[in-house]
Amino acid sequence: MHHSDTSLVPDSIQTKADFWRHVHGQLASLLDGQRDWVTNLANASSLVYNALLAFPAFGNGSSAVNWCGFYLDSSVFPAPKLSSPRAAALPEGQHRLLLGPFCGKPACQFINTTPGKARGVCADAFLARRTVRVSDVNAYPGHIACDGETNSEIVVPLVLQVGGSAVPLGVLDLDCLAVGGFDEEDQVGLDRIADLVVGACDW
Ligand code: SME
Repeated sequence: MHHSDTSLVPDSIQTKADFWRHVHGQLASLLDGQRDWVTNLANASSLVYNALLAFPAFGNGSSAVNWCGFYLDSSVFPAPKLSSPRAAALPEGQHRLLLGPFCGKPACQFINTTPGKARGVCADAFLARRTVRVSDVNAYPGHIACDGETNSEIVVPLVLQVGGSAVPLGVLDLDCLAVGGFDEEDQVGLDRIADLVVGACDW
């Protein structure tokens, strides 16, 4: 099978439950044997995005998914080794998410997660360590609009369990052109995808 074929969705898959089971299985195969987070997050965003667009519930013109990708806590990004030392180290006590691998149009590079200054759906999901599903982004206080065409959004935290403690790594974020684009079944499916991605990489 070509790597690109992992994002195909057979016509026999009709329900969302079957769709998310299929995507989970395809992603598990695609990530098998590779532990680098840059590589795996890039392939994960592409597989999920393209599979969604190939599934009628999400690929239809005005109700299509229009962004799928990752934001990562800046501490996860390694410091430069070959050129200048990290020029833009954050002042003590400040935190932010950086744009990671994604599919879709260009998006905001930074999301402030400093407690008291944080804003937006990604920061809220990251800080609370819980999935946030937003039916209408225009009614969500603090929503950061990277694309004015987006109407709904779901953000799933990436949390690594290390020696009994939970370390938040970042978030998986999806946007949709339709209001109410994501439902409870999508949330269950994406929570499982986020767990798979976290467990498939070395951090
Ligand atoms: N809407 C997000 C920002 C990221 S973009 O949707 C890709 C937020 O409010 O955090």
